[in-house]
Amino acid sequence: MKVHETAFVVSTYRSYHEEISKDNYAKLWNNKDTDALIPSILDTISRHEAILHSIRNRFFYERMASFFNTNNGGTLINFGSGFSMYQFSFSDSVSTIEIDKKDIIDYKKEKIDNWTKEGKLPFRDVEYVAIDFNQNSTDQIIQIIKPLIKNEPTFILIEGVFFFLDRSTTNKLFQIFKGLQNPGDITGSVTYLPEVENTKVYHRLLHYFDSNNDTNDSFSHQTIPHSYFSSIDGYTIKEKTDEFELSKIYAPNIEICTKNEILNETMYLLERV
Ligand SMILES: C[S@@+](CC[C@H](N)C(=O)[O-])C[C@H]1O[C@@H](n2cnc3c(N)ncnc32)[C@H](O)[C@@H]1O
Repeated sequence: MKVHETAFVVSTYRSYHEEISKDNYAKLWNNKDTDALIPSILDTISRHEAILHSIRNRFFYERMASFFNTNNGGTLINFGSGFSMYQFSFSDSVSTIEIDKKDIIDYKKEKIDNWTKEGKLPFRDVEYVAIDFNQNSTDQIIQIIKPLIKNEPTFILIEGVFFFLDRSTTNKLFQIFKGLQNPGDITGSVTYLPEVENTKVYHRLLHYFDSNNDTNDSFSHQTIPHSYFSSIDGYTIKEKTDEFELSKIYAPNIEICTKNEILNETMYLLERV
């Protein structure tokens, strides 16, 4: 599976459980190629994947809505934004900067512009930036993004991306976030903790990627320990939770007995100090 296909897959997951994800626009991205991929993922990796991604979206939706309501708007800076649609559910006092690889950004901008013209989406102030996080320096990326921030405060989101990056690019991104944000701003991020590497379901995930690998689109399989997040220069942990805990709130009827039977991602909200 190519990395950009993962963006279609998680968007489609959100569309399957709108009542949980609160993403009423995800279905705009649905397509038959992605629909054809999903049954084998749910069968071979874990049947809970669609709900868990919807729970993740719901968590960030709730936290960002609360942040922007409290501050009467601001800017969402979405790193590796894929086909995220949060901004269309927020008020128009929220501006958005979407950052991803060029193929995703070009495709997304064209589609969003058309759907807005057709009245399928409300108009929102969105800037689109094509960057490969592995290829540009810290200063270059800060210089590209900083002038685009029109409203403060900022909420940076990096969701479903660290797994595909190595540690040096991850370190670079946190330097970039520090350079873009002011005290009180928030960064929301998602990771697998190294403990997940011991679970059968994680082995099934790696096996799936290995056996559906596109050699031109290789990526890391990064897990990041809690100690990394508790010692990021310029940030303090404001909230830590995981999909297993959140499932009790947002999807109490699904049957998950233990953390180990699901691909349990951990969410960190970090406050710039
Ligand atoms: C699984 S998708 C998640 C998309 C979105 N954040 C979400 O949760 O729906 C991973 C995204 O990270 C982006 N990505 C991965 N590696 C990247 C890199 N080196 N530079 C920029 N974007 C990258 C991919 O293009 C893709 O859109």
